[in-house]
Amino acid sequence: MTKFCFISSLVLATIVWTNLIVLSTAESLQCVHPPSVWCSDQAIAKSCQVEKQCERWNLGSAKALPVGIALYYESLCPGCREFIADQLYPTWQKVGNDVLNVTLVPYGNAKENLVDNKWVFTCQHGAQECLGNILETCILYVAKDFTTAFESIHCMEASDDPTTSASKCCAQFDLNYDQVSSCVNSSLGNKLEHEMAMRTESLDPPHQYTPWITLNGVHTDAIQDKAQSDLLSLVCETYQGTPPAACSTNQNVCPRKV
Ligand SMILES: *[C@@H]1O[C@H](CO)[C@@H](O)[C@H](O)[C@H]1NC(C)=O
Ligand SMILES: *[C@@H]1O[C@H](CO)[C@@H](O)[C@H](O)[C@H]1NC(C)=O
Repeated sequence: MTKFCFISSLVLATIVWTNLIVLSTAESLQCVHPPSVWCSDQAIAKSCQVEKQCERWNLGSAKALPVGIALYYESLCPGCREFIADQLYPTWQKVGNDVLNVTLVPYGNAKENLVDNKWVFTCQHGAQECLGNILETCILYVAKDFTTAFESIHCMEASDDPTTSASKCCAQFDLNYDQVSSCVNSSLGNKLEHEMAMRTESLDPPHQYTPWITLNGVHTDAIQDKAQSDLLSLVCETYQGTPPAACSTNQNVCPRKV
């Protein structure tokens, strides 16, 4: 009896001691966050004792490919300018290059002819539009990174006059406009714009209008409609990695349960 009592109190003591440790650990770390944000921050992950799990989770998201949105457009088309200003640029600003890989192909409904070893372009909205297309093509080539290029191009497309605003827009984002304009009038610019023409003409199905949008290389009416009405939701639904914050605050994707 005495022996039994002795063992039993030892077991009890052990249980109490273990519980005390668990309690004190839990208290000092204080996991006060819901599971949805556990992996959003290292300190939170630590307090909720899921550091290891989050490492794996975040590794998975780092490996997820960004969603590819390609825009086939022409510099003076009103629908293209609207799509850039209202959908593409704001969505890209919210989710960043890691989640959204934007590809810009400024050519659209233009036509080209080879004359004396030089491509001559004809544009739906006239010569100014062809100049705008080549300016933007050269910006994509000259800029040190896509962010600088897209900032400058968005600035042009959102302004009253995309071509005359080019030098101001480049300056605003620290892009050397002299380099851009010498590209525009050179055989390099001519060749680069011809590449935009070839990329546009190799679309399958062929484009029927501008702006023409593809999602991970695919064009359907549904993709086009969704991209033009709510690109952020389309990107959030398609992205395979950990959703960026902009996706969880986007009511259209994940309506909050009350
Ligand atoms: C972004 O898209 C282009 C095709 O438009 C592709 O060549 C490139 O590899 C993509 N980048 C990433 C990081 O997925
Ligand atoms: C480039 O060519 C365009 C159109 O021919 C002209 O308006 C512009 O001044 C030229 N720019 C440069 C830097 O030569």
